[in-house]
Amino acid sequence: MSNEALSNLLHEERRFAPPAEFAAAANVTAEAYAAAEADRLAFWETQARRLHWAEPWTETLDWSDAPFAKWFVGGKLNVAYNCVDRHVEAGHGEQVAIHFEGEPGDSRSITYAELQREVSKAANALTSLGVVAGDRVAIYMPMIPETVVAMLACARIGAPHSVVFAAFAPDALRSRIDDAGAKVLITADGYNRRGSVANLKPNADAGVEGAETLEKVLVVRRTGHEVPWNAERDVWWHELVDAQSDQHTPEAFDAEHPLFILYTSGTTGKPKGILHTSGGYLTQASYTHHAVFDLKPDTDVYWCTADVGWVTGHSYIVYGPLSNRVTQVLYEGTPDTPHQGRFWENVQKYKISLLYTAPTAIRTFMKWGESIPAKFDLSSLRLLGSVGEPINPEAWIWYREFIGGGRCPIVDTWWQTETGSIMISPLPGVTETKPGSAMTPLPGISANVVEQDGTVVPNGGGGFLVLDKPWPSMLRGIWGDPQRYKDTYWSRFAEQGYYFAGDGAKKDEDGHLWLLGRVDDIMLVSGHNISTTEVESALVSHPKVAEAAVVGAKDEITGQRIVAFVILRGGNAEDEGLDDELKAHVSKALGPIAKPKQIQFVAELPKTRSGKIMRRLLKDVAEDRAIGDTTTLADSTVMDLIASKLPHAA
Ligand code: WT7
Repeated sequence: MSNEALSNLLHEERRFAPPAEFAAAANVTAEAYAAAEADRLAFWETQARRLHWAEPWTETLDWSDAPFAKWFVGGKLNVAYNCVDRHVEAGHGEQVAIHFEGEPGDSRSITYAELQREVSKAANALTSLGVVAGDRVAIYMPMIPETVVAMLACARIGAPHSVVFAAFAPDALRSRIDDAGAKVLITADGYNRRGSVANLKPNADAGVEGAETLEKVLVVRRTGHEVPWNAERDVWWHELVDAQSDQHTPEAFDAEHPLFILYTSGTTGKPKGILHTSGGYLTQASYTHHAVFDLKPDTDVYWCTADVGWVTGHSYIVYGPLSNRVTQVLYEGTPDTPHQGRFWENVQKYKISLLYTAPTAIRTFMKWGESIPAKFDLSSLRLLGSVGEPINPEAWIWYREFIGGGRCPIVDTWWQTETGSIMISPLPGVTETKPGSAMTPLPGISANVVEQDGTVVPNGGGGFLVLDKPWPSMLRGIWGDPQRYKDTYWSRFAEQGYYFAGDGAKKDEDGHLWLLGRVDDIMLVSGHNISTTEVESALVSHPKVAEAAVVGAKDEITGQRIVAFVILRGGNAEDEGLDDELKAHVSKALGPIAKPKQIQFVAELPKTRSGKIMRRLLKDVAEDRAIGDTTTLADSTVMDLIASKLPHAA
């Protein structure tokens, strides 16, 4: 980014105060900000006490070896005990923990008492395979209850897990097994995807082929189809786990005992194994879930639509929610199987009250049209969450109106694999929200926006988002590469000691934060920094547009020119003149400098498997060169379609 601050800010006047009834009953009130402000460490100690500790800590934060943090030094706890056993011991064994909904429509409900027995059996099974505390276990699993059981079983015996998204190719699995030095892999025969059976076992086999540290592969039977089998290495879950005792005594581990490694692909280089530990991670995952989702364990039904292969699944399907005694839905499949109303059918069936999903999904629902959710009873919903990308104000409004019935607070939650838990978000019973803004850091969290040289930008300015104080669920490093940890996150603002998040952000006149996407995506047009997010949001604010992706393509005169790829809302055609209408619309919203030079209507956009738009590939198209690495693309045919539509540069 050049020194000149981002010059555009979408003007947004709409404000939404929390409904009075919601505010009156909210788990967390404005008082939390004051408490954290008065004494940040004491505030986190209070939140840590929401958990069960086998031994108390002696020091809240040891930052003497910064940027390597230690939280709750000397404390001991068992993460799985906190997520399962303590609820059973408190008399909630019969409460449903997980309502599992398979894609074909099969379902089963698992109580906390059952979960305790399953996790205990799985812990005993892993022990019987020779797994001891500190050994790494790779998990390559679909969205089924055994995946949650497997993660908790690892946590229970102190074996850090490394979950690898089931749709990743064998190479990705292999590099993660090798980097983590995993001893055991837990996988499944397959899963249901878009009405057919996806094979997982052959990919798992290819992924472990020759992996030197790997000893055993534990296989869950989900689909029952025939799979290749290596009798020396492979063990069926239903044979080994089901035969174990359902009694298991959890051992307390140090607060800084590694809980999991999760690989982020990043933009370049080999994936980084982000390391999270136990006490601080669980404290913040648990507190933020309680505060941001306002979970009432006796009455709410919660659904986070993420995959457990992402950090969202770790923190907001497994550790945060279960530590708070959630009743939640776990769904195996896709939003459009067998029909485009499947999510809303799930909400209606389970009377879901708290829903957490991603902007990419919301924009897809906009494209499909509001008549689809309108067919279902969504009156159980009382709060909506968003994560993964900036949410365009218009997508926010659509979500509020057509899913939330105009009555549900929306929490736009900013965080990262590295932060472990939510960092910036409204509090649903406190914050008057602005569509498109993640608002302010949560109580106990400190963030800022700075210039290139680290000076803090005033209200109304834009720059780099930084986290300027350590937080309990911060990453503890990159597995096996402490230098890369320092270089990637702490070298940019080394002098100030800030964590560099890699995102651009703006502070509006009230000091509220607007996330502008990755710094690498910010465009430079005639000397002006322009955020892709803002131009995309301006496009989505046109009533005919469902989704847009914007890139800066090389231009001899202006440095970069803005090229937009646009998906229309259901029922709209690419009428003649729409192109100019959209350009004029952006120009009016952001100023002529932000007006796209070129607009291309497309049916799909290239996205990663976690739903983020891959602008890098669109840039290749816009600059008329061979399309780069598409291996992390969710659907590789999308690029051919887009490339074939764009007129080549003369
Ligand atoms: C990056 C982190 C956090 C779990 C899922 C993604 C972007 C995430 C928001 C948001 C604007 C967001 C950022 C961030 N991001 N949430 N609410 N508003 N941007 O985890 O894969 O580690 O990605 O996602 O760019 O840096 P991740």
